[in-house]
Amino acid sequence: MRIDVVTIFPAFFDVLEVSLLGKARATGLLDVHVHDLRDFAHDRHRSVDDTPYGGGAGMVMKPEPWGEALDAVAAAAGAARPTFVFPSPAGERFVQRTAREFADLPHLVFGCGRYEGIDERVFSYAATLGDVRLVSLGDYVLNGGEVAAMAMIEAVGRLVPGVVGNPESLVEESHEDGLLEYPSYTKPATWRGYDVPEVLLSGHHGRVAEWRHEQQVARTRERRPDLLAE
Ligand code: ADE
Repeated sequence: MRIDVVTIFPAFFDVLEVSLLGKARATGLLDVHVHDLRDFAHDRHRSVDDTPYGGGAGMVMKPEPWGEALDAVAAAAGAARPTFVFPSPAGERFVQRTAREFADLPHLVFGCGRYEGIDERVFSYAATLGDVRLVSLGDYVLNGGEVAAMAMIEAVGRLVPGVVGNPESLVEESHEDGLLEYPSYTKPATWRGYDVPEVLLSGHHGRVAEWRHEQQVARTRERRPDLLAE
């Protein structure tokens, strides 16, 4: 999978060199390219923002550098139509289903907005080059799209076959079956007076599976009743 990121803060993405995603990049499973939006701004100050039409607080990202940046990454992609993902608190909610959907795509382009956002025409133009998704991490506001893009890249990247060594660990985790994950324990069986639940020491696979499922349902009911309603 190819991933391009357009941002005014490329350094946010330095962490993509560590851990599982770093390894996936090194082995070529993930082909990640980070671009500085200012490289596509041609005035003396390499400016990427301006005051909003109609007035209001803050600055809006100018369309011209974005247009050039999107042209460049779309051309680099070759024949495959890219999917442009613009992190935005005004977007659709990013959930595990979205991560699975994105993990099947050949080319993702994350466009990280800052300030009050990106000139709306950029989304219309992007739609001529590929699919466009405005995606929110949750109902809160970050300073820009970078941290949201990082979270999405990790959630998507780990679903690309081969990135996570043991694919079974992707199945038994929170949100994969619409429930929160069951609690996990390791040795020692007693620690500071706390015992591991007896059933896990029983060696009885059927009872363990049943207990884990009960725990999933109980936790989900307590912490995320909205998931059960879905
Ligand atoms: N940019 C700013 N806030 C955001 C959020 N909650 N999700 C995605 N991108 C954002």
